[in-house]
Amino acid sequence: MKLSQRLLTIASFAKEGALVADIGADHGLLSIYLVENKHAKKVFAVENKVGPFSILEKNTKDYPEITCSLSDGISQIPDEIDTLVIAGMGGILISDILVKNKEKLKNIENIVIDAHRDLELVRKTLNDLGYEFEKEVLVKEHVFYNVMSLHLGSKKLSSKELEFGYQIKKDPLFKEYQTTLLDRLEKNYSKNNSSELRNKIERLKQL
Ligand SMILES: C[S@@+](CC[C@H](N)C(=O)[O-])C[C@H]1O[C@@H](n2cnc3c(N)ncnc32)[C@H](O)[C@@H]1O
Repeated sequence: MKLSQRLLTIASFAKEGALVADIGADHGLLSIYLVENKHAKKVFAVENKVGPFSILEKNTKDYPEITCSLSDGISQIPDEIDTLVIAGMGGILISDILVKNKEKLKNIENIVIDAHRDLELVRKTLNDLGYEFEKEVLVKEHVFYNVMSLHLGSKKLSSKELEFGYQIKKDPLFKEYQTTLLDRLEKNYSKNNSSELRNKIERLKQL
């Protein structure tokens, strides 16, 4: 099975032997890779749509370490789960999934996130829920992805880190990411001359 660099990075952030809930498991590619490569001892694969769920069940039927659940977000995860992976969704949805059932986080020690929009909101939500950043890395495929890894802790991100990423300047792809992001923001600014956008562009340039 060939996984994208994005999914490989996400998988590498699970601690060996973790008991993982893969939220939004889709067809189960990541869940299968996690158990096949011993990144996870067991995976609770959650999908909330019937179509992808039936393919998930079919694809994982030969993996006794994977339990499939047709359910919403983290609402049904068992108490033994210690690691959450939530990847390939927008930041508003990810934040909503975490906050809506926050009592389910009581045994969660590690969280791996790959949000495709509204990253600042996700970072803030995770900090507010009692998780601190361990790392955030850029992955470049046809676009950039920011893959985040967190553990329990109270260290808060600075406002710059909340906006642009945890220790993002240290990432080997930072300069290219900054240029791409600036380009996108400048294009938006040319259509919509908002002062908010201008200020963001200046903050990004000054990083
Ligand atoms: C774009 S796919 C990402 C699949 C995989 N996690 C990845 O990163 O490649 C997002 C999946 O999340 C599922 N999903 C969306 N909201 C969900 C929710 N509240 N609970 C469980 N799954 C959800 C969607 O049905 C879809 O299969």
